[in-house]
Amino acid sequence: MKIGIIGTGNVGSALGKGWAGQGHEVVFGTRQPESEKVQTLLAEMGQGVTAVSIPSAIEQADIIVLATLWNAVSDVAHAVNNWQGKIVIDATNPIAPGFQLAVGHTTSAAEQLATFLPGASVVKAFNSTGAENMVDPRYNGEPTTMFICGDDADAKATVTELAEALGFDVADVGNLEAARFIEPLAMVWINLAFKQGLGRNIAFKLVRR
Ligand SMILES: NC(=O)c1ccc[n+]([C@@H]2O[C@H](COP(=O)([O-])OP(=O)(O)OC[C@H]3O[C@@H](n4cnc5c(N)ncnc54)[C@H](OP(=O)(O)O)[C@@H]3O)[C@@H](O)[C@H]2O)c1
Repeated sequence: MKIGIIGTGNVGSALGKGWAGQGHEVVFGTRQPESEKVQTLLAEMGQGVTAVSIPSAIEQADIIVLATLWNAVSDVAHAVNNWQGKIVIDATNPIAPGFQLAVGHTTSAAEQLATFLPGASVVKAFNSTGAENMVDPRYNGEPTTMFICGDDADAKATVTELAEALGFDVADVGNLEAARFIEPLAMVWINLAFKQGLGRNIAFKLVRR
């Protein structure tokens, strides 16, 4: 399974490190594959990880993670013409200035993204926790929860496997429309971490009985 990660920032590099460590083939899609920043990142990750242009990464990979700021998503979506058969993991949060959600209630970033990607299966995931938790999702030895949603059961099963491989417990919240709930959940994490002063070492855990 070749994983294309678009964006080499906090989220992209955390997920890339995690999956490369599991033996997955990871290709970063970046605006500057030759930059010192990207070359340093590749050197940290070792073999099996490459960086190419954004269209090339999308074409090469079966699974694409969007790990850019939300306002870049439309450009990335239009970087190639054919998204047929791709699983696209949307890790973005549609954050407007002042830590406000830019979309919500009657739509979501993930649903808007899906309209740009005919033929792709969009799964919302990896948006509701901090990037550090993607490197190490366990607290006191217990997995924390990754909330996901999407319309394609097979795509969600694949994303579940990838999240579990990193150490998450996965909660499937429903079809893609449920991104309307998972995206605001990210704002709960952000508010707790930054406005309420809890810091970045926090994560959500769904408990069951
Ligand atoms: N930080 C977190 O803890 C966290 C957690 C969950 C979700 N998120 C969400 O995940 C997304 C990424 O967050 P982040 O913290 O990783 O951001 P970041 O560190 O700023 O990285 C974003 C990356 O996107 C790429 N990029 C920027 N502008 C672009 C453009 N116009 N076209 C294509 N690529 C562009 C850049 O990679 P290149 O320079 O290599 O092209 C950049 O490194 C955001 O939507 C954020 O809300 C963040």
